[in-house]
Amino acid sequence: MSPQGGISENISGWLAETDEHRLDLLWTTARQVREQFTGRQVHLRGLIEISNLCERNCTYCGLRAGNKNLPRYRMTDLEILECAKKASDLGYGTVVLQSGEHPSIETRWLCGIVRAIKRSFPLAVTLSVGERPLCDYANLRECGADRYLLKFETSNARLFSQMQSPLSDGLDRLARLRFLRRIGYEIGSGTMVGLPGQGIRDYLRDLFLFCETDPDMIAVGPYIAHPGTPLGKKAIKSQAPQPDSALMTRKVMALARLLCPTANIPATTALATSERGGYQMGLDSGANVIMPNITPLVYRAQYEIYPDSAALEHEDMHREVLRVIEAAGMEVGKNRGDRRRQRTEFAAPTWKSL
Ligand code: 5AD
Ligand code: SF4
Repeated sequence: MSPQGGISENISGWLAETDEHRLDLLWTTARQVREQFTGRQVHLRGLIEISNLCERNCTYCGLRAGNKNLPRYRMTDLEILECAKKASDLGYGTVVLQSGEHPSIETRWLCGIVRAIKRSFPLAVTLSVGERPLCDYANLRECGADRYLLKFETSNARLFSQMQSPLSDGLDRLARLRFLRRIGYEIGSGTMVGLPGQGIRDYLRDLFLFCETDPDMIAVGPYIAHPGTPLGKKAIKSQAPQPDSALMTRKVMALARLLCPTANIPATTALATSERGGYQMGLDSGANVIMPNITPLVYRAQYEIYPDSAALEHEDMHREVLRVIEAAGMEVGKNRGDRRRQRTEFAAPTWKSL
């Protein structure tokens, strides 16, 4: 890496960096920037996997319709409200309702749930329920939904089109994100790292796309091969040496922190699933959000986006998360954890000295 180089060379240099001591400088700077722009608080968002029904066929995801080995469920209203109560009792500021895309996950039903949660608890509601007609996003927003999470997964258009077929409305995810922001949602986006065929140029472009879309939340997680998916089967069969996706994930997270200093960045469940101590790694790399899974265990086992390690009951998960936050010298967020924008945002002072 050349200190004289432009920003692209600088970022690419960090993405290619393997020297642990030099990488320490990246992690430390990401933590400093986090502290300066988002403070010492880690915001907790309770994740509720409300349904694993999905009619789409993304080649990387275990919930794809083609995976016939998966028993499908949709939680009842009461079960979802009980989870929201748990989140509220534990002092979380947000619940995230997540599902696949399927006609049975009707927008009308979701609207009722959002209204009921907002009536009963002082929680922000994040929706992560996929690509829907624009008027459905607007209806959900009117019912009180605060945030919407829609990852663009990779900025490599060729790779993306091989993994997912577009919906017939002709809108891509970036257009949807723009609309969601226009109608008042905080928007979240993100990527997977370590997909077969991805390289440094792709991660660099992902980072620039984060700058361009300026999401309020940026989720970066390692791709985990699922044997029940076409991409997973191929990756496992090829026996190609697996890229160190956890390390690359950490680099992309830390660089996202430097480029988008006020964004909320979670230590993702995918990182915590693929690596022991994944939450800690995430916080060490500049994250300021954790999303403890509070879905009842019977359903969680069936929400198999990727093969999961032993799932913890929510009380045990909560204790573990508190331990990790304390070990990182941080504290649990006391409010909803909305994004705090600052006028100085684009002058992240540390960037040039790196
Ligand atoms: N590995 C990692 N993340 C995955 N997702 C789906 N499948 C995988 C996988 N095999 C993530 C994607 C998607 C969300 C539902 O889960 O980012 O947006
Ligand atoms: Fe369905 Fe989302 Fe999985 Fe694609 S990534 S198969 S839309 S749950």
